[in-house]
Amino acid sequence: MNFNRRELLRLCGGAGAAAWLAGCGEEEAGAAPHLGLPFESRAPVLEGDAAAPWWARGNYAPVADEYDSRDASDRLEVIGALPPTLNGTLLRNGSNPKDEDPLFWFFGDGMLHGLNLSGGEARWYKRSWIQTPAVKGEQAGVAAGRANTSLVRHAGRTLALYEVAPPFEVRPEDLSSVGYHSFDGATYGPMCAHPKVDPRTGEMWFIGVSMVPSALSCTCVGAGGEVLKHTSMPLDAMRMIHDFQLTPRFVVLLDLPVLLNPAFVSGGPMFEWRPDRVARIGLMPRDGELSATRWFEVAPSYVFHTFNAHEEGDEVILEACRFVPSAEDDFFTNTSAPTPWRWSLNLKTGAVREEALSDLSVEFPTIDLRRQGQAHRFNYGLQITAPTPDYPLHPRGLFKQDRASGAVELWDRGEALQLDEAVFVPDSPSAGEDEGWLLSVAYHRAEARSELLVVDAQRLSAGPVARVILPTRVPFGFHGLWVPEG
Ligand SMILES: [Fe+2]
Repeated sequence: MNFNRRELLRLCGGAGAAAWLAGCGEEEAGAAPHLGLPFESRAPVLEGDAAAPWWARGNYAPVADEYDSRDASDRLEVIGALPPTLNGTLLRNGSNPKDEDPLFWFFGDGMLHGLNLSGGEARWYKRSWIQTPAVKGEQAGVAAGRANTSLVRHAGRTLALYEVAPPFEVRPEDLSSVGYHSFDGATYGPMCAHPKVDPRTGEMWFIGVSMVPSALSCTCVGAGGEVLKHTSMPLDAMRMIHDFQLTPRFVVLLDLPVLLNPAFVSGGPMFEWRPDRVARIGLMPRDGELSATRWFEVAPSYVFHTFNAHEEGDEVILEACRFVPSAEDDFFTNTSAPTPWRWSLNLKTGAVREEALSDLSVEFPTIDLRRQGQAHRFNYGLQITAPTPDYPLHPRGLFKQDRASGAVELWDRGEALQLDEAVFVPDSPSAGEDEGWLLSVAYHRAEARSELLVVDAQRLSAGPVARVILPTRVPFGFHGLWVPEG
């Protein structure tokens, strides 16, 4: 769908839309409740030495040391009013190379960032390297686990994830490391970065892609932390499968034509776009094996991240941010902007219906995770500037879409502020969907430091209700997790 200014202002409701339009070359209209945040409409340019890889420049660049605001006696200033219902710690995980220069952004050592909020105050901010064997100098190279990609909380444990390695347990209260976690003592191989916790059963499901030999696995862990199911199947090539989904009856698998290129270790591109290969979405019965997966062919595309999936009548509905790469030799920097997309898979007829939810560029999708696997109303994500070879993922502002009406809300401050993935936190356990807060760590470019933004999800275009000023920079990371107090 394409919007003109009037339609966008109507959909977005005023100031937020005006700010967004100002970034498109129009004047920002009127005073807006942005808590003093600046706005810039300059062209998106990545700071730093153009000869350096993009992941070593701008706010992708790593920080050199660990930090604890309590040790530094730094006070965390709050502008606005922090909701007193936000009691817990926001964790962020990302790639922050300690000693080695990584071959790619994905291969840096995991650094954990924690920001504790309690009773309307920001208590502390801390960052620590996750103490993997690689950080301790016991492993090196691309085969070493880095625990840098995401986090999940399940059965009383907080796990840092790295896609091609087992999960690594950390403690949210002090960011200390426990070590690799093997569930009930057995080894279940790699765990993807985006496990799904079913709010109805308490089960955690995850997939894993092994490289040599190439294989896909699927594991279910019970609410108590015990492994209930493990199934695997061989793959004919090293697929890049980053995410999946879960509905009450099915595990929803994405087998899309992006391969990992073995030549990247000698300087080649990391991903290979292969539109000659079939693109398909699979439904594995939760009570069956991977070999029983029913596959549905779809138009060639790629997905890093999904919003959600659910069952509706005879259909399974999957929503995600969809890329269409434009070159065969380097997927990551030669691709379309990612757009919110829906696939409807008909279980009776085998037919697939595909449709764009919006033509805006959006990544790092998320939802109110209490609706995981069930029909939900609201999608959230980050606005992303279209990838270029210099700047593959240029984060900008917040995106929200009402799936019932299609209405979109946006909020950003142009090039002045770059937001990282937003995490939705319900205002209370009994709050309705969308009744909560979006937490995003943003990079304030003029001051080369970061801050937490707290946005009322129901008034997204009004901007943050609170800013927590951090005295240091939090590099762009991958994913975060809110760990409630207690
Ligand atoms: Fe991810």
